[in-house]
Amino acid sequence: MLIIGLNAYHGDASAAAIVDGRLVAAAEEERFTRVKHEAGFPAHALRYVLEAVGASPREIDLIAVARDPWARIARKAMYALRMPARAAGRLGVQGRFATIGAEVARALGTTEAKFEVRRVEHHMAHLASSFLVSPFEEAALFSIDGLGDFASAMWGVGRGGQIEPWGAVAFPHSLGIYYTALTQYLGFPRYGDEYKVMGLASYGEPEMLEEFRRIVVAPGCGAMGFALNRDYFLHHRATADMTWASGEPAIGRLYSDHLVERLGAARDAAEPIDSRHHAIAASMQRRLEEVVLDNLRELQRATGMRKLCLAGGVAYNCVTNGKILDATGFEQVYIQSAAGDAGLAIGAAMQAWHHSGPRPRDFVMQHAYWGAQYSDCEVASVLERSEGEIARQRCVVRRIDNQPQLLCQVVRAIAQGKVVGWFQGRMEWGPRALGNRSILADPRRAEMREILNTKIKRREAFRPFAPSILETKAREYFTQSHPSPFMLMAYSVRPEKVAVIPATTHIDGSGRLQTVSESQNPLYYQLISEFDRHTGVPVLLNTSFNENEPVVQKPEEALKCFLRTRMDLLAMGSYVITRDT
Ligand SMILES: [Fe+2]
Repeated sequence: MLIIGLNAYHGDASAAAIVDGRLVAAAEEERFTRVKHEAGFPAHALRYVLEAVGASPREIDLIAVARDPWARIARKAMYALRMPARAAGRLGVQGRFATIGAEVARALGTTEAKFEVRRVEHHMAHLASSFLVSPFEEAALFSIDGLGDFASAMWGVGRGGQIEPWGAVAFPHSLGIYYTALTQYLGFPRYGDEYKVMGLASYGEPEMLEEFRRIVVAPGCGAMGFALNRDYFLHHRATADMTWASGEPAIGRLYSDHLVERLGAARDAAEPIDSRHHAIAASMQRRLEEVVLDNLRELQRATGMRKLCLAGGVAYNCVTNGKILDATGFEQVYIQSAAGDAGLAIGAAMQAWHHSGPRPRDFVMQHAYWGAQYSDCEVASVLERSEGEIARQRCVVRRIDNQPQLLCQVVRAIAQGKVVGWFQGRMEWGPRALGNRSILADPRRAEMREILNTKIKRREAFRPFAPSILETKAREYFTQSHPSPFMLMAYSVRPEKVAVIPATTHIDGSGRLQTVSESQNPLYYQLISEFDRHTGVPVLLNTSFNENEPVVQKPEEALKCFLRTRMDLLAMGSYVITRDT
């Protein structure tokens, strides 16, 4: 049975293909259109996943869409009466969902497809995207995001192939909107900028925590959920626009004048960042942690379960995630690599599969490599086509078929302080580069942070870089060793190791690590092992292969990025391109 899952007309549009309950391919639309967080219909991703399966449109049994127009219909109706202009905009998007079957057929260029369309509520799809691909037979489940199907959080229990929702938080209360509003206030207006503020928060102390406890209110008395103090926000009024139809999502101003009165002037994007901004970011982050961890403690107590599956955009907050095991009764956490809205494609498809009959739980998403891959032949033809530019930049291309030799050359370059583009195998699913579309550097060299931030990535100087570490060595370098294969946990670096890997240790002494095992990514594991043999340090600095754009997908995009940013070496398949300096 072939099920295609879609996240459409929402941020991070995506498609996933599931054959007999097993994930075969998944990708975000942004990688094809080269527009960050692309929100339209995922036509390219859809065509890619079908091609990866090797199926024709006629063979699709089911299209599962992560949106249910009937969910919370009474609340939606009340909202429509209060704010008719915005409701009309939302109706336009709803209308697109009504004809999504035709849109799928159009994207696939067929009139012969005979699939059923199944709708899965947004947060059910989030919960399913984590639990139904997790290694857990039963677990407590929690989804937290900005907003989807008029809710911003849902919790419940998963057993076998079934998900039982226990509760939800409805619009306008939302931890995702809270974080986005403060991200805008701090001068980062673009969709998806929240992670920058998470990095900034480590520079300050939560001096304004009491004020932030007035902004997000917890229900108390051991109850779950949370509420926003509406005085501080605009999204529940008629003025905040959200655009999901196509292109990069845009969200209008979410914070109110009252918030400005309480916290002081908002920062302009061009303004320098000072200690007041650090303190606001730190207080905002700390309040998020308090609310999320309180909810998780209560969820653990109510369910009695020791395993947790998290999903939703807020589940990208690796600083909060890194505290879960210490702060709650949970002993294991699973968060899928595309925890945010892209992951809805998997969630909708898996939920549809388990609801199409009694199904065994025989698939676990152990790795994130579900995207496109390219042969050496395809790489060679790209290099050939760019021969002139490669020569102009005095670069040399060599093919190295002996893999140990290739690893050795790359490791030597990294250890000498070179910046390496590493393009291998299938592209990652989710926003993090996990060793297949990565820029790699030496974590032992403190100066690599500045070199990468200002010369290669051209991004804010305060942003940290992540370490990839051999899973078996994680405990030697970090205070916790619970696996973090998708780079979604920040743990404290052991004090004696801070000076060993300064380039990947954040200002607060933490690292957003990726643990790498041989079974998940054999080639990347061997590369880090070779670096360990060469230097005695089982860690590489790993940042995504891009420069202010979506992560590269194709060899030509990787080559262009390499030539444009003046990286030192590019390893694409068996080909190594070096600068003749
Ligand atoms: Fe969501």
